[in-house]
Amino acid sequence: MDDIKIAFRDIDDTSYENIFGRFAEEIVRCHAAIHNKSGLGNEYLGWLEKPRDYDRDEFNRISVAAQKVRDDSDVFLIIGIGGSYLGARAAIEALSNNFYNQVNPVQIYFIGHNMSSSYISDLLELIKDKRVSVNVISKSGTTTEPALAFRLVKQMMEEKYGEDASKRIYVTTDEKRGALKALADLQGYECFVIPDDIGGRYSVLTPVGLLPIAVAGIDINELMRGAGEGMTEYASTDYINNECYKYVVCRNLQYRLGKKVEVLVNYEPNMAFFGQWWEQLYGESEGKDGKGLFPTSANFTTDLHSLGQFIQEGSPILFETVIDIIEPRIGLAIPQIPDAKDGLDYLEGEEIQYVNRTAMEGTIEAHNRGKVSNIIISIPRMNEYYMGKLIFLFEKACGVSGYMLGVNPFNQPGVEEYKTSMFKLLGKPGF
Ligand code: PA5
Repeated sequence: MDDIKIAFRDIDDTSYENIFGRFAEEIVRCHAAIHNKSGLGNEYLGWLEKPRDYDRDEFNRISVAAQKVRDDSDVFLIIGIGGSYLGARAAIEALSNNFYNQVNPVQIYFIGHNMSSSYISDLLELIKDKRVSVNVISKSGTTTEPALAFRLVKQMMEEKYGEDASKRIYVTTDEKRGALKALADLQGYECFVIPDDIGGRYSVLTPVGLLPIAVAGIDINELMRGAGEGMTEYASTDYINNECYKYVVCRNLQYRLGKKVEVLVNYEPNMAFFGQWWEQLYGESEGKDGKGLFPTSANFTTDLHSLGQFIQEGSPILFETVIDIIEPRIGLAIPQIPDAKDGLDYLEGEEIQYVNRTAMEGTIEAHNRGKVSNIIISIPRMNEYYMGKLIFLFEKACGVSGYMLGVNPFNQPGVEEYKTSMFKLLGKPGF
C-alpha cells in the first residue's frame, strides 16, 4: 500500500458499500456545496484550492526568510494561538526528531498560546543569551494572548538588538487590516499574508504554518505537493472510493448511531500535537447549534494504561479514529540477550514497530468487543508528502462533514463569548 487508506472496523460488521448507500445522496450534495462554493460560510473556502493556487513569490520569500533564520538564529519564537499556532506545531513535531530542540541547530519555542506569567518568564529567561528571531502570527492582529506575549518579546528584542530587532521579527497577519499589520508597517517588519478567505484552523498550508515549518528544516515543497495530490484525489466524484469521503461517512454514521465523542488515536508520540490541531479543526467547525461530535485525542499505547479502561467498558459514548503509520521513522529490533530473564524471549529479533502495530490490532479487536467502532487511517510513512495530504484530507472531510451536519463549518461564533466576558471583567474600553 502506498497511499493514505481508510478502513472501517464497525462493531456491526456492516460492509462499507452498505454504509455508503445510506449517505450517498448527502455526499453528492455536500461535495457539490463545497466545490460550487454554494454552502454556508463559502467565503472561507480559500483552503480548497490553495495547494495549487498559492502565491509562488511569497512561498519563495518564506524559503529565503527561513534560511536567514537558520543562518542567524539559535532560537525561533512562534507567537500565536489556536489556528495561528496548532498546525505549525503539529507538523513540526510529527516530522521531526522527538527531541528536536535538543538536536536541531535552531530551537523552536511556542509562546502566546496562554497567559501564564510563569511560562512566559521561564521562556524569556531560557533564551535571553541566545540569538533569537520571532514570528508573530495573528489573523485579526488583536488576539489578547499573542498580543501580550509579543509586547514582552518585542521589548526583549529591542533591548537586545536595538534598531536591528526589526530585521529579526516576521509578521504573519491580514494583508491590510489590524493592529499587528499597522505595527509591522510602522516598524518595517517583513510581512506574510493570511488570506482573507481562509480561517485560522484551515490555515496551516499558508504562511501561518509554512514559515515555522520551513525554519524547522522541513521540506515545504513536499508538504504542498502532498496537499496538492490530496486536493486532486479527494475531488474525485467516484464518491464511494474517495478516501476523504470514506472518513466522512464512517464518522457521521457513528454520530447518527448516538456516539458523542470521536477519539483520534495515534501510536507515535510525536503525533500528539497533530491530535490537538485536529481537535481544534473539528471542534470549532462542528460544535455549534447544539450539534457535533466532541473531538478529543489519545496517545497509545501510553493512554491505554489510563484511558483504556473507560474506552473498553465505560459509558458507550465514543468511537475511535486510529492513525496507523505503517513504517516508523526509525526502525529498531528487540535485541537477543541470552538469559535476559525479562519474559521477552518470544519477541527477540522482532521490530518494536511489529509489537506496536500488533498492540494496535489487538486494541482494535478488544475495543470492538467493547462496542467501540474504529476508523483506521493507514499511512505508509510519516513524511512531508503524507503530512500535506493528511492535512488536506482532514480539512476537506471537516468541511463536508459540517455541511452534512447542517452547520457552518467555517465560523466560530462561540469563541467570542469568553472574550466578551473577559474584556468586560478587565474593563476594556467598549465592553
Ligand atoms: O480558527 C480560528 O479562527 C481561531 O482559532 C484563531 O485562529 C485564533 O483564535 C487566533 O486568532 P488570530 O489569528 O486572529 O490571533
